[in-house]
Amino acid sequence: MAKRGAWRTRFGFYLLAVGSACGLGNLWRFPYVVGENGGGAFILMYVLIALAIGAPMLIAELIVGKNTRRSILVATQKLTQEKAGLFRWAGSLSVCLSIVVLSYYSVISGWVLHFMTQFLISFFSPPEIITAKTNLAALMANGWLQWILASAHLLITVVVVVKGVQEGLERWISYIMPLFIILVGILLMRSFSLASTPEVLRFLFYPDFSKLTLSSLNHALGHVLFTLSVGFGTMVTFGSYMRQEDHAPTAGFRVAVVDTVISLVAVVMIFPVAFQASNVPLTDPSLMFEVLPRYLLNIPGGALFGLTFFLCLYLAALNASIGLLEVVVSNWMDSQKKMERGQVTWYSGLIALALTLIPALSSSVLVGVRFHGRSVIEALDSLLINWILPVAALGILMVYNLSTTEKEKEADFVDREKLVSQTMFPHWYVIIRWVGPTFIIAALFLQMIDSF
Ligand code: PHE
Repeated sequence: MAKRGAWRTRFGFYLLAVGSACGLGNLWRFPYVVGENGGGAFILMYVLIALAIGAPMLIAELIVGKNTRRSILVATQKLTQEKAGLFRWAGSLSVCLSIVVLSYYSVISGWVLHFMTQFLISFFSPPEIITAKTNLAALMANGWLQWILASAHLLITVVVVVKGVQEGLERWISYIMPLFIILVGILLMRSFSLASTPEVLRFLFYPDFSKLTLSSLNHALGHVLFTLSVGFGTMVTFGSYMRQEDHAPTAGFRVAVVDTVISLVAVVMIFPVAFQASNVPLTDPSLMFEVLPRYLLNIPGGALFGLTFFLCLYLAALNASIGLLEVVVSNWMDSQKKMERGQVTWYSGLIALALTLIPALSSSVLVGVRFHGRSVIEALDSLLINWILPVAALGILMVYNLSTTEKEKEADFVDREKLVSQTMFPHWYVIIRWVGPTFIIAALFLQMIDSF
């Protein structure tokens, strides 16, 4: 069997893990989920869940990968041979979830591509012709355009993955991240100087618990799992490429912190602009696309700024998509040895492409199809992230919990040279063994009550 690749550098691991975690989830999904759930109280809950439950679960997934040196499907099969047989389905569920999420993620990545090209065009045409409002409306009305953009995105993703983890990715990601951080910083300062800022800060950071619903807890949990890429098997795959001397808990915790900070920056950046343009619904998936381009087109040098910003955002989305496709490919490769990696990648891309049709046509051909007042893409997002993802993440966690003893977990977690890991172990243990599973079940239960 081919020797499994390992990260050449620790930096390589961070780039890919942070790159996979930080994507459209932070910049596109988080703001409108915050809008939907009423602001401050939800953000507070989100941060607590991300650090107290999300990070420990992320660490557990990295450990599963590192120990088994396999992707989630084979890892769960291996771990459930003697114990935890009840949770054997977790691996297959997370792989299926990855490919379906990849398909709808591709549609949103296509939207990013669209705005990127619009900014490019705006260099050559008078600004009144390109208004962000008409662009978004035109894009929404044209499902086939969305599908073509999603296909272009998938094609790019497949080509990168065909090149393989090591060569394809490590290099170029390191160039993009710093530029993106600078752009986000500039935008943050600009939107902070808007008149709406005090009102926004109150909305975002003053917790008004009366705005929460019974589902809010689960919405926060679902988003934490999505944004940290937990429950998809992505982190298991990345963990399987870790070197023996790498400390998974430190790595996992850092990834979770960086991702959470980026989400907070995203809301502080987007909401002042959204409040300024008072007619924008804060609860709609199009929030970011409604707000940012319009704002950017009205500031001096905005076209260039917009182009660079959307280019960086696109690369972040691409990076996350690579993580999703990588899960599917590495699982497929691990469970059968006959096909070539390239072939498997192309087939996975084709399956995702076919699935992409449903979310791409959501706002045009399928505009009449509604589930509880929600469009197809909104319903799909809710089904995948608020229902299936917590179940998949719980399954993976239970496989790890039941297949290892407390002593083994201690050996996985504690690094004798890191004193803090000894102090943290009992907390981590209680969280992954008891608090996490109970929390997920309780959150799902409350959401179920809310749905009836
Ligand atoms: N975490 C990514 C985001 O926030 C989405 C993602 C999920 C990527 C799972 C890879 C795997 O955009």
